[in-house]
Amino acid sequence: MRIIAIANQKGGCGKTTTAINLTACLSRRDRTVLLIDMDPQGHSTLGYNIRTEEIGLSIYHVLKEGISLDDVILNTRIQNVKVAPSTIVLSTIEQDIANFPEKEGRLHHAINNLKRVFDYIMIDCPPNLGLLSINALRAASEVIIPLDASFFSLHGLGKLIETIEVLNRRTGHKLETSILPTMHDRRSRFAREVLDEVKAHFKGFIFSIPVRRCSKLSESVSFGSPISEYAPNSIGHWDYSGITDELLLQEEPSVRTHSIAVLSSAISIDAPKAMVSGYTDNGFIFIYRDPGAAEVKIAGDFNDWIPDKGVITIREDDGTWKKIVPIQPGSYQYKFCIDGDWKEDPSNPNIVSNRYGSYNSLVIIDS
Ligand SMILES: Nc1ncnc2c1ncn2[C@@H]1O[C@H](COP(=O)(O)OP(=O)(O)O)[C@@H](O)[C@H]1O
Ligand SMILES: [Mg+2]
Repeated sequence: MRIIAIANQKGGCGKTTTAINLTACLSRRDRTVLLIDMDPQGHSTLGYNIRTEEIGLSIYHVLKEGISLDDVILNTRIQNVKVAPSTIVLSTIEQDIANFPEKEGRLHHAINNLKRVFDYIMIDCPPNLGLLSINALRAASEVIIPLDASFFSLHGLGKLIETIEVLNRRTGHKLETSILPTMHDRRSRFAREVLDEVKAHFKGFIFSIPVRRCSKLSESVSFGSPISEYAPNSIGHWDYSGITDELLLQEEPSVRTHSIAVLSSAISIDAPKAMVSGYTDNGFIFIYRDPGAAEVKIAGDFNDWIPDKGVITIREDDGTWKKIVPIQPGSYQYKFCIDGDWKEDPSNPNIVSNRYGSYNSLVIIDS
């Protein structure tokens, strides 16, 4: 069971949007998920279309009265996603449990005593670093920090990281931290510069793709529906799906090696059967190595020839670029785009001519 807190003391940076949509995307990958709403505003609860009138017991009763989490969990319209709801009453919790012993570990205790089993627990935190966020960070083993590209976000980040470090020291457990850039506007130079700075600063701790600005994401919340249901063909859904894939990739790093057959009729040379690329649970990994390249993208039949659409990128320090493409077994033509220039895959001798008079690389993935 992975327990992930979504935290940032800044409001409006995409915590709730991330909590709602990652849980929904995980359920589409057959994971069972519990979303714990630790924000008195109850936006995650509302985002799953749970109305205040339907809520009897809530996370408040778990924290204040020690009621079992199992007894407050509600079903949602999404199979495999349950919610431990919150209501505005939660805003008084700081005073209500001020004198309780172990007041920072009450959520941790409740999760430990949970009878139902989930693959993932996600905890949506309020926009402050009070007792509720501390309870969430204490209960979690991982934290995702959504970060919108603004000066104020970078400013507050230091404080949050300080809190995580204090918690790590105090609790003796190390929170795995990852930064998730949100509301990214590729057309804005300032946003690109902030993103580059954040990437450089948090190298190795940052998701490889940002969540782009997408109005459908805000619309979907008001319809009480995750983006996967409301607008499956939107940028917002693609981005959160890609981030989910990246999360799943951390589950089991074991790479299944599948043989790569070759469409012998399409090529005249004998092609090697094995390449450096391989098939994982999350898709096919294409590998390109060029220490001098600033930007490597991939496009092919699998993503409508839109460079990097739906692709997860992992860039190693030695100039190796790994492109993880969530595709089913089948045959695909593709090309790399290196700093704007289209090239065939140098590690794949299988090429077919295309209608522009040049060649595409060809891969056939066995099931
Ligand atoms: N990628 C995005 N594109 C456009 N709007 C977004 C995006 N992510 C979040 N929003 C909107 O921004 C507002 C704040 O997001 P929210 O997830 O509620 O932040 P937080 O929980 O951190 O306060 C909401 O109206 C939400 O719909
Ligand atoms: Mg929120």
